Amino acid sequence: MKTVIGNWKMNVGTRESVALARGVLLALRGKKAIPETVVCPPFTALAEVRKIVARTHVALGAQDLFWEDSGAYTGEISARMLAEHGVSHVIVGHSERRALFETDEMAGKKAAAALVAGLTPVICVGETAVERKAESQAVVVKRQLVAALSPLKAKGKDRVLVAYEPVWAIGTGEPATPNDAVAMHAFIRGFIAESFPSLTKRAQVLYGGSVDGTNAYAFLREKEVDGVLVGGASVKMKEFGDVLSAACEVIEKQGV
Ligand code: PGA
Repeated sequence: MKTVIGNWKMNVGTRESVALARGVLLALRGKKAIPETVVCPPFTALAEVRKIVARTHVALGAQDLFWEDSGAYTGEISARMLAEHGVSHVIVGHSERRALFETDEMAGKKAAAALVAGLTPVICVGETAVERKAESQAVVVKRQLVAALSPLKAKGKDRVLVAYEPVWAIGTGEPATPNDAVAMHAFIRGFIAESFPSLTKRAQVLYGGSVDGTNAYAFLREKEVDGVLVGGASVKMKEFGDVLSAACEVIEKQGV
């Protein structure tokens, strides 16, 4: 299976989110084989987008959560509240949040809370430009994975999505090469198999960082790439439609 996730960040309000969600449904209409498709609007648009995607093949994701279920945590939103809103996926530890608000350990608590509430965490990992220059990407990603995956108690049908998103590729228009992504995905998969064997079958590895309509196919056709996490291009309907079409084409060709 291939997965395509649109992370709309803080780029759109409710009205635009609703229009984008309609566009996603249109882009998938009539396709023979479609990817697992997830749209992640801002919290304030979840309820309206839910109305559009309910009972379709498009799933609803959130961009963050807090690890406690309820309590005196002004401004925070729990996994249970998200589940109540029809959310099935939640992004955890995005680099934009790691840069401003949260630690590796917090990402682990959030991922664990997501699973407990029946949500699929989309755990973002990736090195900065400085870290890549120092060739320490494996060390950095390993550290982030250990913190994010150690607290997880997966059971039943639980899945865990890991998005390899090199920070230097996010929003820059300079994606990693498919070869770079394949190498890191193989590393991530190998590390999970070795250190978290119970997650091996549950974990899929996505690539994120300047994915758009022109390069999506080159990533998605790689066996190591289970899908893509798309930021900037996911709020441009034509671009995102092209990403979805690329995924459909790969699925049809490869039968995956
Ligand atoms: P980008 O963002 O596609 O705009 O590079 C990806 C992400 O932040 O998830």
